Amino acid sequence: MARILITSAIPYINGIKHLGNLVGSQLPADLYARYMRARGAEVLFLCATDEHGTPAELAAAKAGKPVAEYCAEMHAVQAELARGFRLSFDHFGRSSSPQNHRLTQHFAGRLAEAGLIREVSEKQVYSHADGRFLPDRYIEGTCPNCGYEKARGDQCENCTKQLDPTDLINPRSAISGSTDLEVRETKHLYLRQSAMRDQLSAWIDSKTDWPILTTSIARKWLNDGDGLQDRGITRDLDWGIPVRKGDADWPGMEGKVFYVWFDAPIEYIACAAEWVDAGKGSDWERWWRTDKGAEDVRYVQFMGKDNVPFHTLSFPATILGSGEPWKLVDYIKSFNYLNYDGGQFSTSQGRGVFMDQALEILPADYWRWWLLSHAPETSDTEFTWEAFQQDVNKDLADVLGNFVSRITKFCRSKFGETVPEGGAYGDQEQALIADLQARLDRYAAHMDAIDIRKAAAELRAIWVAGNEYLQAAGPWTVFKEDPARAAAITRFALNLIPFYAGLSSPFIPDAAATMAGAMGVDPAWPDSAVAALHALPPGHAFTVPEVMFAKIADETRAEWQARFSGVRS
Ligand code: 2FM
Ligand code: ZN
Repeated sequence: MARILITSAIPYINGIKHLGNLVGSQLPADLYARYMRARGAEVLFLCATDEHGTPAELAAAKAGKPVAEYCAEMHAVQAELARGFRLSFDHFGRSSSPQNHRLTQHFAGRLAEAGLIREVSEKQVYSHADGRFLPDRYIEGTCPNCGYEKARGDQCENCTKQLDPTDLINPRSAISGSTDLEVRETKHLYLRQSAMRDQLSAWIDSKTDWPILTTSIARKWLNDGDGLQDRGITRDLDWGIPVRKGDADWPGMEGKVFYVWFDAPIEYIACAAEWVDAGKGSDWERWWRTDKGAEDVRYVQFMGKDNVPFHTLSFPATILGSGEPWKLVDYIKSFNYLNYDGGQFSTSQGRGVFMDQALEILPADYWRWWLLSHAPETSDTEFTWEAFQQDVNKDLADVLGNFVSRITKFCRSKFGETVPEGGAYGDQEQALIADLQARLDRYAAHMDAIDIRKAAAELRAIWVAGNEYLQAAGPWTVFKEDPARAAAITRFALNLIPFYAGLSSPFIPDAAATMAGAMGVDPAWPDSAVAALHALPPGHAFTVPEVMFAKIADETRAEWQARFSGVRS
């Protein structure tokens, strides 16, 4: 049995994520996890909250809470929203877990033993107005690489270049806006990534099947002269993982913590340990250690494009540098950005629809379907309310929902709530089976390749084919002349419902469960179209499901559009 380890980029703890964040990692990761499980693979699907760093400290201060308490609360909030969106994590961990503390300190110790960490006495930016050292991302200025004026001290979000704060032109405090900044001397640890350039470069070169978006960002970084500079992995903060060398103190590093981007990816591993410690699994090393069973695991990561450098270079440098047999990622699926109604989604500005708001107005499946079928795979894409209304009404209500409702109601009125017997299948059914088999094969191929939009298009075409069949076969007309033939058409169409449930489940799990439940079966991936369409025998009982998808009216759409046009307070 195939074994697939899946991780989604772990969302920052500070605040609720917007739909752009969701479709950039967690949601597609869930789609793939559900699909692989449906195909019989053994899946371990992990995600967590990314809890360290200044954003967490600042958000806690803003909320007037101790940071540990704030993080515990926000973790619960994010976990609940994940459940609301039906994100099927095997575990939703926390980067602040004791397991991650231990592992992060362990990796640092190994890297130090391997001579891959150097201590650097360096100058750090202190803000008089804010009364504190400013972490990299809280210094803003102009990117020396592309000229973007709002580049952060850790990375330019415009050109994705990783930066050091002192690289910025015209730096200012992102907290207060103050330019009254002073550079002070302090000691930090640097990971000697540059020593691993050749190893990393060969590794990236070996990934010929990766999405162009992923490899182009990785290569840009590797080939960009200083793209693989040594990275500072410690910070002067209170909140974080204390700097230690494994179990031992690290002289001179008292009071310092590891940089959030050092410990966050290690949480992918620690999360598996948390999963075991939570009693949900029995052996995490067989997923993560190639000397303990993980050599036959396929490891797939999902993330937005801004995360790619950290996952293609920094984290692999940590893993390879440790000299231990940890599992390296096999495939990185990365995403462009989803924009919102003529602008950008923005957490800091509260612009767009956030996960809690989305679930307040519509069930998860509507969002899952629209977001996944418009996943920003090859370019940035845009959410507009008009497109959302139009696509959801058409695909989910007019095509899929209408099909299910029409055939179950027709059967109930003419034959009762059991699959009717009699009549024979003919050319129309043979043709549809052949068409559906070809589409099923293509759909599975797109899902295997994690080509999400292509998969969604094929699934939509599968729904449309059933609708067109029903329309053309017209059992309501045939019934008057030839009730036996109408029974056969009805039986065939009813059999399409569990077929649809199985195929649709990764995208719209709730609707799939409703469809399958109405037909008295569990959603299951079909072995073949012909087998699936003969699965429900005559006499099999079913129920007519409630309306699966309500259409979004123009007034409602306009109301939402207005409600979410402003800024979230
Ligand atoms: O961009 C983000 O939301 C980060 N919190 C992702 C971290 S992914 C990983 F490295 F842990
Ligand atoms: Zn830039």
